[in-house]
Amino acid sequence: MNADMNAGEKPGMAIMISGTGSNMDAIISATRRGLLAARTVLVVSDRPDAPGLKKARTKGIKTLAVPYEKGVPREKAESAIIGAIKAERAEWVVLAGFMKLLTPNFIQAFRNRIVNIHPALLPSFPGAHAIRDALAARADITGVTVHMVDELMDHGTIIAQEEVAILPGDTEESLAARIHATEHKLYPRTLQQLFHEDF
Ligand code: GRF
Repeated sequence: MNADMNAGEKPGMAIMISGTGSNMDAIISATRRGLLAARTVLVVSDRPDAPGLKKARTKGIKTLAVPYEKGVPREKAESAIIGAIKAERAEWVVLAGFMKLLTPNFIQAFRNRIVNIHPALLPSFPGAHAIRDALAARADITGVTVHMVDELMDHGTIIAQEEVAILPGDTEESLAARIHATEHKLYPRTLQQLFHEDF
């Protein structure tokens, strides 16, 4: 638990997305069903058209879209995001399908307080196409990893992993559906442990 937090207080999270936001949705639902003692203080996206942003707004959650301009260093967009997260006094930054690589400057701003979910058993199949890569490698098993975020891509202390079997005849879609179903349970449960239990 964060040393500055009073016992019983719900930590604030900023959730960062780029797309559908199904993990964001699962996390927000878990907070509302009492399974995750936390508050979503902000949802941030690099894509103004991310469907997840609209979903967050309909749930009454504050949102922010910060497009990354081509040819402009990532730090520029990040400084707007860092400012907004700090203004909302979020204790945790929860990446849920945020597709931009974070710079060391961002990691430094929230050191040991950034969490990510990845659709494979890291260190296997890092990168943006983990589900497709696991199928292409003819693996029998893949899964989901929740990890702390450091300066390297899909890297940092692993907090939780859950296996998902690859079945004969699986397509990217069928495997992705089972991986996402696993993610939607594992991510809220792991955040609850991370925020409220000692690791
Ligand atoms: C998830 O598979 C997650 O593991 C990866 O990006 C995907 C995001 O999906 N990092 P969604 O936007 O939460 O539906």
